[in-house]
Amino acid sequence: MAENKVAIVTGANKGLGYAITQKLCEKYKGKVYLTCRDEVKGRKACEELTKLGLNPTFHQLDVTENESVKKFVTHIHDNKEEVEILINNAGVLYLKDALEPRFVQAEHTISVNFTSLVFLTEAILPFMKSGAKIVNISSSSGHLSRIPSEELRNKFRSDKLTLDELKSLVSSYVEDVKENRDVKNGWGDSPYVVSKVAVNAYTFMLHRKLSSQGITVNCVHPGYVQSDMTHGAGNIAPIMAANVPVQLALAPRVTGQFVWHNGSSVPWGGKDPRVYIDGRHV
Ligand SMILES: NC(=O)c1ccc[n+]([C@@H]2O[C@H](COP(=O)([O-])OP(=O)(O)OC[C@H]3O[C@@H](n4cnc5c(N)ncnc54)[C@H](OP(=O)(O)O)[C@@H]3O)[C@@H](O)[C@H]2O)c1
Repeated sequence: MAENKVAIVTGANKGLGYAITQKLCEKYKGKVYLTCRDEVKGRKACEELTKLGLNPTFHQLDVTENESVKKFVTHIHDNKEEVEILINNAGVLYLKDALEPRFVQAEHTISVNFTSLVFLTEAILPFMKSGAKIVNISSSSGHLSRIPSEELRNKFRSDKLTLDELKSLVSSYVEDVKENRDVKNGWGDSPYVVSKVAVNAYTFMLHRKLSSQGITVNCVHPGYVQSDMTHGAGNIAPIMAANVPVQLALAPRVTGQFVWHNGSSVPWGGKDPRVYIDGRHV
């Protein structure tokens, strides 16, 4: 095993994160951290992988809890570990029939999918060197065309957008949901869309900042995955959907890209690339 070199996967107790961890354990020479918020579930997931002859390392990590993130980062620091791979996979989606108030859905979705992803990534960056890779698990929902307002789209895609500006743009969305003016103000009606568009904007911002340091940053739409998130629907098994994220983590052929589940790069600001929307071919 490569000494002190590590890979980290968030939300890895099940679904896509578990499958990505499995493949990394098979192919990556360093230590693979299977992280998740529930210790019992995490240890059980590690046991399952151990039965397959693999050797993941568990660490508790609730991405929304700053203390949990700090403990994990301190652990990396104290062990003098170098993070070669960070896969930001943890995510939540409220389906259309969810009963929680819209504001609660928006706040939680933005917190897990965007704010926490940024917080963790910024905390891990000091432990990365040239050659490191960051893979942000996005979605087709992260395509810029999913935001109806051109003005908002232009803000998200601006090369001059700073991290503080991106965070405040996303906070203004949550405020708009609270005041019930999100649709009127051109955000559309999906917190998941806004969270993943913001993840993509952050990916490209990081790429601009880190490419000169040799750090590769991409975001991925993994496909319609058969997981708890989709209540078992979907057309691709997690172990197959893990292929592209793992390829980008081990030997990326591209950087600063929005990569689709078939491995192709999709222009973020282009036409909606989906061929099947809301139950019909387009
Ligand atoms: N499924 C799809 O069709 C699809 C399509 C496009 C993109 N994606 C993206 O793929 C990623 C994985 O989704 P999935 O389909 O594998 O869904 P999943 O089976 O529901 O898994 C989601 C994972 O995120 C974890 N998570 C949620 N909140 C967390 C927190 N606060 N801290 C740490 N972990 C947390 C969950 O942990 P718990 O078990 O503790 O809740 C779980 O491990 C997500 O980012 C999702 O948006 C999925």
